[in-house]
Amino acid sequence: MLNDKKTKELCDKIYYFAKKKKGFAEICKELELKDYEVVGLITLMNQQGYNIDFVNGEVLVMKTPQKTQDVYELPYNLEHLKLLLISDTHLASKYDRIDILRYLYAKAEDEGVQHILHAGDFTDGRSNRAEQVYELREPSYEGQIDYCVEKYPHFSGQTYVIQGNHDDWWYKSAGSEIVKSIAKQRDDIVYLGPDVADLKIGNLKIRLFHGSGAGAYAKSYKLQKYLDAIPMDERPDILQTGHIHQSFYMKQDNTHCFQTACLEDQTPYTRSKGLANDKSVWWVDVDFDDKGKIHSITPALETFGDKKIFTRKKRK
Ligand SMILES: [Fe+2]
Repeated sequence: MLNDKKTKELCDKIYYFAKKKKGFAEICKELELKDYEVVGLITLMNQQGYNIDFVNGEVLVMKTPQKTQDVYELPYNLEHLKLLLISDTHLASKYDRIDILRYLYAKAEDEGVQHILHAGDFTDGRSNRAEQVYELREPSYEGQIDYCVEKYPHFSGQTYVIQGNHDDWWYKSAGSEIVKSIAKQRDDIVYLGPDVADLKIGNLKIRLFHGSGAGAYAKSYKLQKYLDAIPMDERPDILQTGHIHQSFYMKQDNTHCFQTACLEDQTPYTRSKGLANDKSVWWVDVDFDDKGKIHSITPALETFGDKKIFTRKKRK
């Protein structure tokens, strides 16, 4: 990963200039680097999953990965990839945990993570349950967008996100995709669509799925039935699901299934229903062999309590 401090600084600058649509010659001049040095850094960034490329003498940045047959594809050809899987942040709820997000994004930066996957319920949305308004910091569509754009931690990599049923309430009531509107204002958030999306990082096939409806008697039941419905040759290597605010991991056939919990404290609604709001995330290490095939996938669960986390800002 881009852990060498100087290399990372140069790559971040190239990415910044490219997003500002500076030309290749101008970027070389700004960084006082030879053309082949800049091309080398762009190649390195491309290998590590940045949506940046050098085509016909120009540096191109595509915020959303290329989509082939409904699959978003990111290049990647290093031997190790570390991912952070999160879900159900329910932002703009009074019970959201921006402090945990700040801690996680700082840790992701420290550990060279460039890809964070979010399985939906990015916002708390606005339901037709009348009393939900008392649980919100921001009840309006614009208010929730502004809150997320301003408060969501900034990241040198990218967060890939789908919508969940809470985000979809805005779609049902007003035909608006709130996460799409948020992502338009943030270069480090990539919206992959409502409810479900397929992403490929190198040879690693990932499906993000939010889910809907009430939880089953056994928490793995719905996920097992969902996986069973996918033909064996179309199954992902990683299936990440959200919605039920509880975590578990299982491997079924060749698919590693991660149920990601939430990053929201218990609300009056979940308390009244006797539902848990289990706050946790999955860190996932993926190792590839020398042909780029998956050698191993290793999960680690990190859990959080109710106590607020203070993250010190690093001095530059
Ligand atoms: Fe949720």
